[in-house]
Amino acid sequence: MPGLKSYLKDPFLKSLYEEVRDSGPIRSISVDITHKCNLRCTGCYFFSEGMERAGKQGDEEAFDDFITRELDRGTNFVTIVGGEPGLVPDRLRKLHANFRVNVASNGLITIPQAGLETLPIGVAVWGDHDTDSRLRGDGSKDFFTQAQENYRNDPRAFWYYTVAPGCAHEIESVVEQCVSLGQPVLFNYYSDIEERGGLLGYRQGFDRVRDEIDRMIERHPEWIFTTRYFNDVVTSGRLFEQHWGFDVCTNLSNNHAGNLQRLETGAPSNPHFRAYNADFSTTRRCCTGTERDCASCFDTWEHFSWIMVHMRRHLGSREDFTRWLTTMYVFYLVNRLVNYEIGMTLLPEIHDRLAALESQVHLQKFHA
Ligand SMILES: C[S@@+](CC[C@H](N)C(=O)[O-])C[C@H]1O[C@@H](n2cnc3c(N)ncnc32)[C@H](O)[C@@H]1O
Ligand code: SF4
Ligand code: SF4
Repeated sequence: MPGLKSYLKDPFLKSLYEEVRDSGPIRSISVDITHKCNLRCTGCYFFSEGMERAGKQGDEEAFDDFITRELDRGTNFVTIVGGEPGLVPDRLRKLHANFRVNVASNGLITIPQAGLETLPIGVAVWGDHDTDSRLRGDGSKDFFTQAQENYRNDPRAFWYYTVAPGCAHEIESVVEQCVSLGQPVLFNYYSDIEERGGLLGYRQGFDRVRDEIDRMIERHPEWIFTTRYFNDVVTSGRLFEQHWGFDVCTNLSNNHAGNLQRLETGAPSNPHFRAYNADFSTTRRCCTGTERDCASCFDTWEHFSWIMVHMRRHLGSREDFTRWLTTMYVFYLVNRLVNYEIGMTLLPEIHDRLAALESQVHLQKFHA
């Protein structure tokens, strides 16, 4: 591949590349492990899109059949969502025993350790105590404190922090609390599917959120999973000449009728991917949507996929390759597909290198 050999003369890039390569290709799916939830968060895509009514909730037999079918199909990585996965620990154990997994949880029910000791858990937080409490409930319960208590000293947990465009000013205080617990933070970007507007409205853009996240990366490079490059791609919706949306989206169910035309265009996609409903058999357009307008989509996992499938596009320069490889590596790190302890020690250098690339770009613009 053009350039690759010369880029890998850099020992740091070489070690990241080899770690990713050695952990093998990912054949991923997502599954709603249950359609039940103990919360009703504002504008949650799952309930906004009526996904809890998609098919009949599968029973244990359907769940076991689903696991067998996916193993036969070659699936090796499952993103577990729902509904609230913490409500069904036995199903979590079954998935964890058969696949590499990652789970999203609202943090209100502690996921047991037994059989789940190495489960990567993205514990949700949607803002500071007040915002989180209002967006995920009626403002009367402090969910963030509850989740902190449930996952204190739990090495499985990282904070999956969904930030709304108008809530950039809260980022510092939330991040300080998460890192003071010795737990990393991965940012997610609120999708205003229901067009509620105000602080949630995506039309105001995520510029302030992007700047604040960059500041947090500078301040806590050892604890932030989100990279500058990733932050820029999500908030700008740009990847080289592409603009984010259905036409370029890469995490589309490969067997869903509504996707066939798009998949036939030949634009790159994750060819194995399927987003399964909680009946454990039917699929939907994508993990976070059935009919929704893609303009409101800022989902972190989908954007990871967008960048990751475009390796070739990033081979034109050492700088672009560094941006791609570090993003790829961080995805593997968050999901513990590479050695987690070693990976955590590499985070500061990853952030340093990306910061150096951005300074270069600024200097070039200045001199131009
Ligand atoms: C649907 S939830 C299911 C798992 C679990 N109940 C939870 O809340 O983590 C999956 C992820 O989507 C996020 N999410 C839900 N609605 C969203 C929205 N409108 N914008 C951005 N993220 C959203 C949640 O915060 C969570 O991290
Ligand atoms: S806890 Fe998760 S599934 Fe439940 S409403 Fe909130 S975001 Fe949706
Ligand atoms: S809503 Fe779904 S199809 Fe649309 S861009 Fe997001 S992930 Fe892709």
